[in-house]
Parts: sequence; C-alpha cells; structure tokens
Amino acid sequence: MTRLLLALVVAGAYSVAWIDAQGATTATTPKRGGNPVAAQVVNPVPATAVSIEAGRKTYRTLCPRCHGPEGRGDGGGAGAGGQPADFTDAEWEFGASDGEIFAAIAEGTSADMESYAERIAAAEIWNLVNFLRTLKH
Ligand code: HEC
Repeated sequence: MTRLLLALVVAGAYSVAWIDAQGATTATTPKRGGNPVAAQVVNPVPATAVSIEAGRKTYRTLCPRCHGPEGRGDGGGAGAGGQPADFTDAEWEFGASDGEIFAAIAEGTSADMESYAERIAAAEIWNLVNFLRTLKH
C-alpha cells in the first residue's frame, strides 16, 4: 500500500514536471552536483530482469547516438557541443540516485541532453534508470 501511494505521489509530481518541461524549472530539475529533492523520489519500478531488458531496448533506440553503444559517452552525436555522459563512470554529474537519473532523462540538462518526458512514458524512463544502473561501476 505504501508503495502504491508513493507511486501515485511520484506520478503526480512528474505530471506537473512534464507540463513545465519546456524550459521552466521545477523542484526536481537536474543540477550539477545533484538535486536533493529529486534524490528523494522513490523508483516505483523494481529492477527486475524484465525491467532492465526493457530499458536496454529503449536505450538502443534513442541513446547510443550520443552515449555510445556501451554507454561510454562515445557516440559522437552531441551537435550542440556537449560531452555525453559516460554511464560506466563512478561519478554522475547530476547525481547517482534513481530519482536524479530519472530527472536528468525526464527533464533534460542541456541543448544536447533534451527532455524525454514527452517522448517516453514514466514507467519506461524508470526501466531506463534500472538499465543505466547496470552499467555504473
Ligand atoms: C543528442 C545527444 C544525446 C542524446 C540523444 C542523449 N543524451 Fe544523455 N546526455 C547528453 C549530454 C551532452 C549529456 C551531458 C549533459 C550536461 O553536461 O549537461 C548527457 C547526460 C545524460 C545524463 C546525466 C548523466 C550524469 O552524469 O549525471 C543521463 C542520465 C542521460 N544523459 C541519459 C540519456 C538517455 C537515457 C538517453 C536516451 C533516452 C540520452 N541520454 C540521450 C547527450 C545526449
């Protein structure tokens, strides 16, 4: 029950974030060094093999262009001049909690790292979070 309630709260918080996704900042907007509010958002999707595999599929479709096939940041497609994150790093620029990774994907961080909230459903972004975690050292 607690889990369901949390999931509903998170869904609510992010539907607000989506409305604001076009440039406006929200409490969960990614910050260099991390965002403590986003860090408190609980991942409602357990990191099962099914979730990780679904995340891998979405990753393969949308992310290697910049982040590279193995997530090392070597895809070469960041046209605005940003350096795509290496997901095998021990350090994550915008925070390494599930909630912060979700926020980086959902809300975006730069001209290269755009907001995906309108392109990918929230549950699918959590699958991506679960997949990216398997790359981290
Ligand atoms: C057009 C290039 C591009 C694409 C496509 C792209 N990214 Fe990014 N991404 C970047 C860049 C550049 C950064 C570093 C941004 C910064 O420093 O502001 C980044 C940063 C990130 C971060 C923050 C990492 C950290 O160290 O905190 C995450 C998470 C992320 N990307 C996930 C994804 C996922 C998942 C996808 C596919 C759905 C994706 N990105 C697609 C360019 C891209």
